[in-house]
Amino acid sequence: MGKLPGNERPLVGQRANVLKTQVQELLAERLQAVKSAALAERLARETIDVTAPPSGIPMGHRHPLITTTEQIVDLFCGLGYRVAEGPEVETDDYNFQRLRIPTDHPARDMQDTFWIELDHTLLRTHTSPIQIRYMDSHEPPIRICVPGRTYRYEATDATHEWMFHQVELLAVDEGISLADLKGTLQEFARALFGSERKVLIRNGYFAYVEPGVELAVDCFACPGDDPKCAVCRGAGWLEIMGAGMVHPELLEAAGYDSSRYTGFAAGMGPERIAMLKYGITDIRNFYANDLRFLRQF
Ligand code: PHE
Repeated sequence: MGKLPGNERPLVGQRANVLKTQVQELLAERLQAVKSAALAERLARETIDVTAPPSGIPMGHRHPLITTTEQIVDLFCGLGYRVAEGPEVETDDYNFQRLRIPTDHPARDMQDTFWIELDHTLLRTHTSPIQIRYMDSHEPPIRICVPGRTYRYEATDATHEWMFHQVELLAVDEGISLADLKGTLQEFARALFGSERKVLIRNGYFAYVEPGVELAVDCFACPGDDPKCAVCRGAGWLEIMGAGMVHPELLEAAGYDSSRYTGFAAGMGPERIAMLKYGITDIRNFYANDLRFLRQF
């Protein structure tokens, strides 16, 4: 522009401006065309089928404790029991007193308790209060199994947790004897631990049963005398539950005639049963939410 004679400058400047605008317009047009071609190609490639099932969402599965509890409950339902449930926050009355465990009874020491100071209720230490709750509101014949969470003020270690589960069993009817308890528990042990299992019933103390027993199954992992056995440590027997004949005082307190009706009760821990069954050595694994543990089941 600088070298042009002065009179030509406006004209050339004008033309150059027109040219510049044209080039800019063409460039923009071309850019737009390239962009829409790229978009069309991408849309063709990325069609979304909204009816297709999602992929890559990992599916979870049942927790080993739920599986074990369901197995136990299923088995008893097959024997004619029905499921009953009750509150996890319980009264002193149902959790202890009416099970013949008064305030100063030494049996309370076996069940360290989380008290709720506000209204002197507690987190239930076992599922046995449902025996009372159910008998209060039903007439015999009774056949119930009661799965649920229980709590104890425990120092946590490989075999103790402050929260765990129990399944309670209660049968009340005319003519129920210790033989029925034994037969029922034998059936249970064989269904869960194998048909060749033997069960051992020995004396045990629980204030709400008379007689009271403890049930053990023979070790399924060794011949019963291997001190190195990881399951029984040479004891040969694995304790799996407490049980007994319902104390007549409980039946009378529920308004039943104890000369006509008798019953048995039992309480077992799904954690312990699952640990024995699957060879789990630390109860804390159940609640740690470690997928490496959970994926094995
Ligand atoms: N409630 C007892 C416990 O927690 C188990 C039990 C239940 C014993 C029923 C006898 C009868 O250890």
